[in-house]
Amino acid sequence: MAKAPAFNQLRCSFPSNSVNEALARSIAASFTAQMNPTCEEVSDIKCAVSEAVTNAIVHGYRDSIGEIVLSLRLDQDRTLTAEIRDRGCGIANVEEAMRPLFTTDPEHERSGMGFTIIENFMDSLRVVSSPGKGTRVIMKKKLSMLPIQK
Ligand SMILES: Nc1ncnc2c1ncn2[C@@H]1O[C@H](COP(=O)(O)OP(=O)(O)OP(=O)(O)O)[C@@H](O)[C@H]1O
Ligand SMILES: [Mg+2]
Repeated sequence: MAKAPAFNQLRCSFPSNSVNEALARSIAASFTAQMNPTCEEVSDIKCAVSEAVTNAIVHGYRDSIGEIVLSLRLDQDRTLTAEIRDRGCGIANVEEAMRPLFTTDPEHERSGMGFTIIENFMDSLRVVSSPGKGTRVIMKKKLSMLPIQK
């Protein structure tokens, strides 16, 4: 069955400069604002997007600068879908990478908690990756209903 058209969607791309992590967070928050989310929902989404973009910057494109694509979609049922895609080094073992405290970069004081944070803040997380080709991180969160205006 064909998927219903999105309520709204946005796609943008930017180079993997660390300054663009804050930009991506702000874009995700501004895009979600049209659904009148709670402060907690906005904060969760910003944090989750930030973790995935940081991963693309520091792991995907470790010693180089490449393109990161951020796709955002809102559906009629108030589900936000965010996809962060890079064409960097990719992940050999996704299951292992998603385990709490697993990191390939302990020397830079990484704690290996990025994917765990995303899983906790969002309703679902899917990571699709192949070594040498890049990584797609797809996360979803259903926003609560609008508060009743008094
Ligand atoms: N976009 C990516 N490209 C390549 N490898 C990635 C990517 N995202 C994650 N990884 C791999 O998955 C591991 C786990 O990621 P996760 O975000 O959970 O922890 P971390 O980035 O190492 O530490 P933290 O997020 O706590 O600073 C990373 O150490 C890295 O090896
Ligand atoms: Mg991380």
